[in-house]
Amino acid sequence: MKEDLFHLPVKIGDVELRNPFIVASGPTAKRVDQLEMAEKSGWGAASIKQTFNPLPYINYQPRYRWLKKEKLHVFTAEYRLDMEQGLRLVEEARKKCKDLVIIANYSYVAGQDIEGWLEAARRFDAAGAQILELNFCCPNMSFNVDISERAKKDVRPSSGASMGQDEDAVRWVIENTRKVTKLPLIAKITPEGGRISEVSKVAFEAGAAAVCSVANRLGIPTIDVWNYKKPIYNLQGQNTMACLSGPWIKPLALRDVFEIRKLVGPGAHINGTGGVASMEDAVQMMMCGADSIGICTETMVSGFGFLEKWMKSLKDYMKKMGFKSARDIRDLLLSEIKPASELTVWAGYAQVDPKKCSKCGLCVEIGHCNAIVMTNESASIDSKLCQGCSTCIDICPKKAITMTEQKT
Ligand SMILES: Cc1cc2nc3c(=O)[nH]c(=O)nc-3n(C[C@H](O)[C@H](O)[C@H](O)COP(=O)(O)O)c2cc1C
Ligand code: SF4
Ligand code: SF4
Repeated sequence: MKEDLFHLPVKIGDVELRNPFIVASGPTAKRVDQLEMAEKSGWGAASIKQTFNPLPYINYQPRYRWLKKEKLHVFTAEYRLDMEQGLRLVEEARKKCKDLVIIANYSYVAGQDIEGWLEAARRFDAAGAQILELNFCCPNMSFNVDISERAKKDVRPSSGASMGQDEDAVRWVIENTRKVTKLPLIAKITPEGGRISEVSKVAFEAGAAAVCSVANRLGIPTIDVWNYKKPIYNLQGQNTMACLSGPWIKPLALRDVFEIRKLVGPGAHINGTGGVASMEDAVQMMMCGADSIGICTETMVSGFGFLEKWMKSLKDYMKKMGFKSARDIRDLLLSEIKPASELTVWAGYAQVDPKKCSKCGLCVEIGHCNAIVMTNESASIDSKLCQGCSTCIDICPKKAITMTEQKT
């Protein structure tokens, strides 16, 4: 029998996904035709665009920039779904998508008024959502305003990334949501504030089936210093703090997943999200502790069809490495990534191959190195002065420099 290319199952709570790849909540999961395309392209699940109930207090037509060279996506202006739109999307998607697991992503505000969160849970459950994703991560709501107006003492309802740093608020919502629905809950936790692993631990204690490490951070995108009042966006009037995503954030995303896994242990489901743009990125995410993989930016710039290629190369890789399931890959780097205190570095020095050197002089300029001089023939490295740092190897445009190890 022919093997199903897209079969590499993982579970969130008691819900099975045909493979670990999830369209992360965002603009590629706003309409039912997008979800149908994701289903056709073999994805395991899709988390619909955030529903914010009551109606978002910050809602604009989307204004994005994809900074290809920096591999960075930035935006502030975005529109969210209202509750009725979110419910309709889930209902329609459930009718049309048989293999794609539909996840409802929504938020409300923090505080004692829990009813909004619970109403959303009840109604998405009734609409047919298979998993609920509680959004404690969006940086472009109260968190953006809080940071941009740091000195002001305005008290605004805490939501998204401001709320996701607060263990008590997260516990409160999850514990109470657990009482009104049996659906598995994913807590999508912000890395802002540096408490992602602690808040994740609380989310599991409170009854979440999984956490999602959103990875994105709030930052200030490139500014034209000659025209600094004009933002880089088209059709947008002001500079703003922006939500950063795409490959640029992958190292931070891997760290988020690694950190959560280290604290919560092997039993928990972690959805690793942030900067995944290749099969290898996905494998790295699993090796750092992810059970499933969320992808948003890459679906924005490339659509959904790349998954077929990824699955082929993933299956091929797994066969060659002797891995039978996604679980076999998970956590492989957990014991390999050592604390700085346990690092081993051994001696060595760099050497120039005079035949390859073009005498461009770039390596001689390296500010922290006094080992390189230019001779009549080529650059030359004094092995006694060389500390073995590697900068010259990375700088040389001719690949003329190599490292010699002295492992003794
Ligand atoms: C334009 C845009 C809109 C997004 N909207 C949501 C959202 O509504 N809900 C949510 O939980 N995450 C949202 N995200 C975050 C993504 O789901 C994802 O966590 C983040 O972009 C990092 O993954 P990536 O590098 O693959 O994009 C959005 C991201 C982008 C770029
Ligand atoms: S490896 Fe570092 S210290 Fe050694 S020559 Fe190159 S730049 Fe200098
Ligand atoms: S950077 Fe490379 S090519 Fe340029 S001088 Fe140094 S060794 Fe030669």
